[in-house]
Amino acid sequence: MSTYPHRERLATLFVREQQRFLESHPASKKAHAQGKDSMLGGVPMIWMAKWPGGFPVYVKSASGSRFVDLDGNEHTDFCLGDTGSMSGHSPAPTVRAISEQAQKGITLMLPTEDAAKNARVLESRFGLPRWQFTLSATDANRHLIRYARHISGRQKIAVHDFCYHGTVDETFANLASDGSTISRKNNIGAPVELSHTTVSIPFNDLAAAEEAFATGEVAAMLMEPALTNIGIVLPEDGYLEGMQALCKKYDVIWILDETHTLSAGPGGMTAQLGLEPDAVVLGKTIGGGIAVGAFGMTEALAERISDSMELESIDVGGVGGTLAGNALSMAAVQATLTEVLTSGAFEHMETLAISWQQGIQEIIDEFGLPWQVSRVGCRGEYSFRSTAPKTGAEAAAAEDFELQQFLQLHALNRGILMTPFHNMTLMSPMTQPEDVERHYKHFREAAAELFAD
Ligand SMILES: Cc1ncc(COP(=O)(O)O)c(C=O)c1O
Repeated sequence: MSTYPHRERLATLFVREQQRFLESHPASKKAHAQGKDSMLGGVPMIWMAKWPGGFPVYVKSASGSRFVDLDGNEHTDFCLGDTGSMSGHSPAPTVRAISEQAQKGITLMLPTEDAAKNARVLESRFGLPRWQFTLSATDANRHLIRYARHISGRQKIAVHDFCYHGTVDETFANLASDGSTISRKNNIGAPVELSHTTVSIPFNDLAAAEEAFATGEVAAMLMEPALTNIGIVLPEDGYLEGMQALCKKYDVIWILDETHTLSAGPGGMTAQLGLEPDAVVLGKTIGGGIAVGAFGMTEALAERISDSMELESIDVGGVGGTLAGNALSMAAVQATLTEVLTSGAFEHMETLAISWQQGIQEIIDEFGLPWQVSRVGCRGEYSFRSTAPKTGAEAAAAEDFELQQFLQLHALNRGILMTPFHNMTLMSPMTQPEDVERHYKHFREAAAELFAD
């Protein structure tokens, strides 16, 4: 059960925050107005219109854990590009590497030596020997799905109800109350009925997974080891190990999308829990903000793929991307993995996230709110329910758009940036205890205003 603040009070406070936002962000408002004639919604990508306050904050400069907007307001960034900048903004080693590489060529349709070095670093972290590079995690997921269908001859991809894996057609599915797989609400231009391509199953439900796999129709199970895009939903004891065994039993290719759960440590949850997936997907984080994605696989999967390909048509088979593996991205990954997202950095980030989780939970308890905080390594999120959700549907049922928008805007007005579609907080190697303190201050003040008698 969730406790919701009085709607009238929430509405009044939101209007006050909107006014404060308008007054303190005139330059951002002007910049947004200038973009309105030439861009959908006045923004470079439509989801940016979803920030609360009527327009997004425009950034002048960012460094480490902070950024300054056009109006000179300084913010602690806990959104960190939704992990795109989990390395902190413009980490010195990455900047140095890309500056040097940019002088020597940016993209060529030829490999540089950095690519194989990156593959070896990723092998040492995830235990998978064969890697490919893309420009995004979305592309990495799409490519693995194509390979899985191609080599298995099976049509369907299994995913979790309320998952998110980028803009991948097969994944915009939900589980209907009658157990069928349907399109997710507001799925834009689905090419075919989702039931033809996808089986949606609840998180933490091995029986549902087995039922789906036993049909013989499932080529791959694409999943995050913990859901992170509908709040955080953690795996119950044995769930991931059970899924691994089921995938083996039914010859289903097990793909762990660690784009977000890399927050768990240098080798994500794969290394943390000693998992043995057939393939792993990584994305935005590993280039320190430079566009890149990657997927790694076992020797056995690599062989099945190689045996199924013909050199003559390899470039038009549906797996590709002209800029994939470009020299600049590879240089960024090399520096970011080896000099920024190190084991020591992850320790610092997780320590901060643990204290953030405790501090926010204490404030929640101080006001007697039935809310809770979950965490995957250096990524934490509070949800408007008293117990940790076990499925995506449970997490979705606790969502409260108005309350979330208010808390986001309240935070923004006090120099805190949260992820726009979540209550998520991420730590970078450069985030400091003062940043976390700043967050407590806003959260306590907001809770007091919403819930004090
Ligand atoms: C788990 C997961 N996979 C893939 C993606 C797609 O990443 P991108 O939009 O960088 O392609 C996301 C994006 O948030 C994600 O959360």
